[in-house]
Amino acid sequence: MIDRESLKSIKPLYAAYLIYKYLVFQFKLAVEGISDWKDRQSPSHIAVPPAKLRYRVHGDLDKQSFLRIGTNLAQNIRDLCASVGRDIYSFECVLDFGCGSGRVIRNFQDAPASCQLYGTDIDAELVSWCDKNLPAFRFSLNGYQPPLPFEDNTFDLIYAISVFTHLDEQFQHSWLRELQRIARPGALLILTANGENCISMLPSSYHGQIRKDGFMFIIGATGKLKLDKLPDFYQTAYHTKEYIYRTWSAYFDVVGYVERGINNHQDAILLRKS
Ligand SMILES: C[S@@+](CC[C@H](N)C(=O)[O-])C[C@H]1O[C@@H](n2cnc3c(N)ncnc32)[C@H](O)[C@@H]1O
Repeated sequence: MIDRESLKSIKPLYAAYLIYKYLVFQFKLAVEGISDWKDRQSPSHIAVPPAKLRYRVHGDLDKQSFLRIGTNLAQNIRDLCASVGRDIYSFECVLDFGCGSGRVIRNFQDAPASCQLYGTDIDAELVSWCDKNLPAFRFSLNGYQPPLPFEDNTFDLIYAISVFTHLDEQFQHSWLRELQRIARPGALLILTANGENCISMLPSSYHGQIRKDGFMFIIGATGKLKLDKLPDFYQTAYHTKEYIYRTWSAYFDVVGYVERGINNHQDAILLRKS
């Protein structure tokens, strides 16, 4: 059987494959839409983003897995805070950078008044959904490039799940610099990367280059065939641990690195602003 990488080299066949995937996706979206509509008729339904907004951040249309993985990710954040001796609710001002459709932040609705949570994202539809449905938090829409609408030294905890996993190196540097600006001195940051575990799942033809450069940015579908409907610059990035220690330490102290610390899949990087 022909694999995806070989298929890419046969352009007409690859285009047909992408069109096929697009049509199957539209069909599944319609089916999930009907199921969502049925759920909303129940008086006990909880606010869950519609299927296309789940897909955009989750890569899957399924509602139950959206909720379950969101709960796991929130627990990962709590555990990572605990690993440096902090309860997440002991922070005063927390930012979910790249909050998407609230998959993670929704699990912090019981935060005390002393802990204010904010979410920000580049995607107007996701932010608008969060704004309407998750009133415990303050959401904002940000541009593709800095600045964020926050003062210098605002947050004592910033977490970003699966955001730096989608940006090229130039974007990463801009956003690391911006997060450094809005983090308070001593703030904790928790970012994630497609590290060794994710690299090992790539075809072996990529491995030499990643090991050499420590970083790889893989461009998949673009334009109309991009199912998540996020901008074309949003693709998939892979980092080695060595690269992160070498590069991110220009902005923060790297105080912890937990392989597969995020849903047993991505690596979690703990940073401190000095
Ligand atoms: C894979 S999704 C994860 C969303 C959320 N963190 C979660 O775990 O459910 C990545 C999110 O990052 C957002 N994003 C990408 N670049 C961003 C940027 N520069 N600023 C804010 N959000 C960004 C995307 O719009 C998308 O919602």
